[in-house]
Amino acid sequence: MGNKKNKSAFISDALDQRKREHRFRSLSDIEVDSSSVKIIFEEKEYINFSSNDYLGLRSHPDLIKRSNEFASKYGVGSGASRLVTGNFSIHTDLENKLAKIFDGEAAILFNSGFQANTSILPAVADRNSLILADKKIHNSLIQGSLLSRATLKRFDHNNYDDLEQCLIDAEKGSYNRISIVSETVFSMDGDRNDIDRLIELSNKYDALLYSDDAHALGVLGSHGLGLNYGKEGIDISLGTFGKSFGSFGAFALCSQEMKDYLINFASGFIYSTALPPNVIGAIDAGLDLIPTLDKERDQLLNNVSYLRNQIQQLGLETAGSDSQIIPVVTERK
Ligand SMILES: Cc1ncc(COP(=O)(O)O)c(C=O)c1O
Repeated sequence: MGNKKNKSAFISDALDQRKREHRFRSLSDIEVDSSSVKIIFEEKEYINFSSNDYLGLRSHPDLIKRSNEFASKYGVGSGASRLVTGNFSIHTDLENKLAKIFDGEAAILFNSGFQANTSILPAVADRNSLILADKKIHNSLIQGSLLSRATLKRFDHNNYDDLEQCLIDAEKGSYNRISIVSETVFSMDGDRNDIDRLIELSNKYDALLYSDDAHALGVLGSHGLGLNYGKEGIDISLGTFGKSFGSFGAFALCSQEMKDYLINFASGFIYSTALPPNVIGAIDAGLDLIPTLDKERDQLLNNVSYLRNQIQQLGLETAGSDSQIIPVVTERK
């Protein structure tokens, strides 16, 4: 017993280190009502500048109504993966509606953006592949890349000369395929990629293009349909419903062939219970609403540029923010 190791020591060691580095994460309870703007924390009211519910749809009556209707009609769970008995016609109808509105050949639902990114990348890349990813992509895309076991190379943020050099170097390798991974609006800095340049490079070097549109959707692009909208040559366009859509879940726009492939090879799609009907109802109502909210988007973007200007006038740095995401940079490492 004397030299038996404490099997849990790594936990307290890691937590202590986090605390020493002032990087310890903990959950704070907030009081919420249906307002998307105000939150109460420790009995004090605050304006919420930190949520992704950019249009306040989380509590929109249309979404709540259709969510309730779908729950009453179809129940609050789907009961199985879609490949078993969870494929209700409402899932297929929603996918068809998404494909139609976004002018895509096909759409496929996932249970969250994180789940989509960690399921799709391991399906399209394997240990013989190369993934070229922007240095500032979201953690879910990094995790998906790592899970795929592909060689992962990070190109300098939005630096397409660096990306092209990686593509040229890759031609000397023996990769079975190359994927380029980026985000239209970067989740931390709020700056944008150059989607046209990415399409050009992916075409030139015959690489798959994976563009995550999570934060542009609902806010930017024609009628809020995102910055991937209307662009030919994106193999996977990823959208989420937990942000501007005010609900939960995700979808990929792709070719019908890619959709068939993902149904067969994306493990997060195959082995997970399908989105529940109430969530499908909320997404469906959000999809009807979002293209009609041009006035609200103008207001949002006016507020955003006012806020960004004011922050900058205080002498604070807002990185490359060119969207509703405005970081206030207090320390650069
Ligand atoms: C760019 C990006 N992709 C995906 C996700 C994950 O989406 P979800 O919250 O639906 O899991 C996030 C979450 O913040 C994100 O910023």
